Amino acid sequence: MIEKFKKNILVTEPIAPDKDAILSQFSSIIDSKWFTNMGQLHNQFEEKLKEYLKVKNISIFNNGTIALITALKALDLPTNSEVITTPFTFAATPHAIAWNNLKPVFADIDENTMGLDPKAIEAAITDKTSAILAVHVYGFPCDVENIDKIAKKHNLKVIYDAAHAFSTEINGKSICNWGDITMLSFHATKLFNSIEGGALVYNDKRLGKKIYELRNFGIKEINHDDAVKDGIKNENFIDDIGINGKMNEFQAAWGIQTLEIVKEEQGKRATVAQKYIELLKDIDFIEIPKFPENVTNSMQYLPVLINNYKRDELYNFLKNYNVFSRKYFYPLCSEFGCYKDLPSSKPSNLKIAHQLSRKVLCLPFYGELVENDCEIVKNICKIIKEFK
Ligand SMILES: Cc1ncc(COP(=O)(O)O)c(C=O)c1O
Repeated sequence: MIEKFKKNILVTEPIAPDKDAILSQFSSIIDSKWFTNMGQLHNQFEEKLKEYLKVKNISIFNNGTIALITALKALDLPTNSEVITTPFTFAATPHAIAWNNLKPVFADIDENTMGLDPKAIEAAITDKTSAILAVHVYGFPCDVENIDKIAKKHNLKVIYDAAHAFSTEINGKSICNWGDITMLSFHATKLFNSIEGGALVYNDKRLGKKIYELRNFGIKEINHDDAVKDGIKNENFIDDIGINGKMNEFQAAWGIQTLEIVKEEQGKRATVAQKYIELLKDIDFIEIPKFPENVTNSMQYLPVLINNYKRDELYNFLKNYNVFSRKYFYPLCSEFGCYKDLPSSKPSNLKIAHQLSRKVLCLPFYGELVENDCEIVKNICKIIKEFK
């Protein structure tokens, strides 16, 4: 008999900086009286991330959703044009399209990458299509090369939602190098967090100015004294409809300190993942998606596929033991009330996405599970075997 866990085992637990160190930094911020608006720590955090991720340009945000909304806005896509996206994602992905007065068009995913299927993208393109918004689900890269080719052929912009792919590399190169803009999320549930937070990474430096201004209500990055001298009227200081996407100094301080422990967390998670793989590999109804050899796993989630139509039963069985796995992503975004009536939301258009969303289960996955020789993981696997 396996005993019920005394404490709830959730799908993730966030990493946090050393308590004394972060409280001391918070105290300095309070004394400085500079809490937000591109402060010293904000700028330092951007520089540190640029170095860490080995990318050319980065702009940090108060969260990933606002960053994604801003990314689409910065690309000046024609109002009401269509953006092809995946239904197998978090709500923020299609919501960012809709918030920009653009039309989400769902296309099916590939069963190996779990991201948009290039063939389905091509089939969804119309003369109204302006962009592709693809998601590197669980840190598995989309078929970036073929998506690139399609975008070039049809003159489309490409935005990647890399909320799950912090520090993922393809052949040693940051995943953020593909597409026009890549969004990262630093939400507390993510491998790397700044409590809430996010970023945009882009290769074209010229996008930086536009993103900087949109993030700050659209206020133009000009020297106001010079502008007045040159006769530029005050009302011309804002041309674009911007938003408040600024990250504050407390989040930036947290992010800077957390960046120092993220590698250690990834190392622990790698051991935890190994243990799950070792203990679940012989269970015939479980399949563990494998990362391609040339890709570094971000260690964000541990998704497994339950192949006997018993995913929901296993989910409930685990819950009886206080193990809270997640049916992530179920339901699909195309099944949400706000999107279900779109022509592209028909299940017949999204066959693989429907199959996958009914099979997938994300198991508890975080660094602390490494403790006591992965004892909790061993017990979770015993429960799964018992279910069998
Ligand atoms: C795939 C995906 N996109 C976007 C987001 C939104 O990011 P944030 O929570 O930082 O706004 C999340 C998660 O929260 C996500 O999982």
